[in-house]
Amino acid sequence: MRDQLLKIKKEASEDIKKASNAIELDNVRVKYLGKKGSLTAILRGMGSLDSEERPVIGKLANEIRSEIEELINEALESVKERERHEKLKSEIIDISMPGRIKNRGARHPLTIVLDEIKEIFTGMGFLVVEGPEVELDYYNFEAMNIPKNHPARDVQDTFYINDEVLLRTQTSPMQARYMEKNKPPIRIIVPGRVYRSDTPDASHSPVFTQIEGLVVDDGITMGNLKGTLDIFARKLFGEDTKTKFRPHHFNFTEPSAELDVSCSVCKGAGCSVCKGTGWVEILGCGMVHPKVLEFCKIDHRKYSGFAFGVGLERVAMIKYGINDIRLFYENDIRFLNQF
Ligand code: DAH
Repeated sequence: MRDQLLKIKKEASEDIKKASNAIELDNVRVKYLGKKGSLTAILRGMGSLDSEERPVIGKLANEIRSEIEELINEALESVKERERHEKLKSEIIDISMPGRIKNRGARHPLTIVLDEIKEIFTGMGFLVVEGPEVELDYYNFEAMNIPKNHPARDVQDTFYINDEVLLRTQTSPMQARYMEKNKPPIRIIVPGRVYRSDTPDASHSPVFTQIEGLVVDDGITMGNLKGTLDIFARKLFGEDTKTKFRPHHFNFTEPSAELDVSCSVCKGAGCSVCKGTGWVEILGCGMVHPKVLEFCKIDHRKYSGFAFGVGLERVAMIKYGINDIRLFYENDIRFLNQF
């Protein structure tokens, strides 16, 4: 029995040496010390020994048991130590390495200018509202005093969906939509996309952005229009900006005008942005036509108003000296990074 015990001790210590992780060590423990383990079997068989041998063998068996236990625990410790070491090694951070550059998003130039325009008008008490891009012929044209077959439709090459439905060619239809639902005093701007069946080139795009403005109240005059748009132009292009209203024609305003501002790039001296004239046209405007008020069931003898429509891309092009409208939609990072 003594020989058997010594053999178990030898085998166990060899097994322990071979074990390379905690699971294998546990298997060794079960193999020798478990319920069905070989050392346990010997301890159970001790009943058959005579009374002299029993305590000697018993003592030896217990010693071997604790030796094996100790060896296993020591091996476990070093396995854990090794694993911890490996983990630390794999987690090493080289703090001298250059960081990864993250490409952060930024606002699009059109968003920058639109935010600025919204800020200017909300500062004067205007509300910002939006409307549908898929619009009824009625709002886009008829309610804007442009009846079917009127030549004024020709200048706005329209994407029709069917006879009654189209992609809005202007933000003006929101004048009618808003006046139908709201009573004066009205003071709104309406930014949004508009569509025209134009061939793209440096100054045309089949989709672009307009900002409509509408003010309706008791006693609104051309003076209010000029004052408001003068402040707008100076806030947007700089305090030294001069404005000039030129007579024009729009079906939905009477009288109508176009607003020119002194060129902010050359300060009026003449450059490629203003084509040497010192002035750039930025918007159409006028006093709301009595017929438009009538369409919206607002009494034109009691109320009057003014309206205007600004092209956002055009304004951004003048402000930043951009010479091709297509740059806004191409999302070329080299262009966008400049704003
Ligand atoms: N809707 C016009 C266009 O797209 C622009 C415009 C002109 C809007 C005069 C207005 C206005 O509100 O009063 O060409």
